[in-house]
Amino acid sequence: MNLYDTSALFNQNMSEEKQNKLLGFYREVFSKYNITTVHDCSIGAGGTTLPLAKLGYKVSGSDLSEGLVKKAKDNFKKAGFDIELFTSDFRNLEKKLKCSYDCILSTGNSLPHINNDDIQDFIKSMSSKINKNGFIFIDMRNWDKILDEKPIFSARDPFVMTEKEHTSLYQIWNWHDDQSVNFIFATSTDRNGKHEKTSLTFAPTYYPLKFKTYEKILNDHGFEIKRCFDLDYIWLGSKNEEAKTGDFERDFSKINWYGILAQKVK
Ligand SMILES: C[S@@+](CC[C@H](N)C(=O)[O-])C[C@H]1O[C@@H](n2cnc3c(N)ncnc32)[C@H](O)[C@@H]1O
Repeated sequence: MNLYDTSALFNQNMSEEKQNKLLGFYREVFSKYNITTVHDCSIGAGGTTLPLAKLGYKVSGSDLSEGLVKKAKDNFKKAGFDIELFTSDFRNLEKKLKCSYDCILSTGNSLPHINNDDIQDFIKSMSSKINKNGFIFIDMRNWDKILDEKPIFSARDPFVMTEKEHTSLYQIWNWHDDQSVNFIFATSTDRNGKHEKTSLTFAPTYYPLKFKTYEKILNDHGFEIKRCFDLDYIWLGSKNEEAKTGDFERDFSKINWYGILAQKVK
């Protein structure tokens, strides 16, 4: 089963705690600039982007997955916002966007679903859809760190852990020769000490995007990085924080999830 065809992401970042964290983050980052219109081109079910609407930005969104776009419509509607949403691949978004924006976003570690050459084409094409002095913001896993560690297996927090039932979640990293990787999520249930079922969910391929590669792509297409943000506290909960200094560059090897805000300067 493909992860993005399931309901697994329907409530991603929709909890009050996550909404408040994201709202605080976006308020701090975006209020410094002249931004009114934002378009998230991998909006998923919308939980990561909804706080921008709550802050008063004019939000729109697109995503490859029809099911997630439908759910985003619901999530925004329930919160009182009727926003423009449509399906689109990053790779043909330029043709589908009818206007240009103050900020184009790709949230939730989504851009590495296309390979580095396609990211280059994407940034080039988005440049014509971003207003003068406008921005591009992405957040993603720290792929430099992942490539250094090349994990193959991790146990995630169990879904259920009662006396009678254990439902555990494991993540398997299936690395390919070209450095791309597939995540496989294995859910395994034991009831009354007996194994009951195991199910597998597959995420589409990721193509690791290194910081320096992305920086070069941005610079080659007229963008300059303005700020980078350690986003572990939002995406992963704060672990290992005492080992960090608060300086992005110095902490880079300890950060697992980060954001990059770049401005169009040419
Ligand atoms: C991990 S989810 C993040 C969704 C959302 N931004 C969030 O934070 O919850 C990755 C998203 O990327 C979308 N995606 C994957 N490949 C894409 C592509 N080629 N073009 C546009 N969106 C894509 C998926 O459909 C999915 O919604």
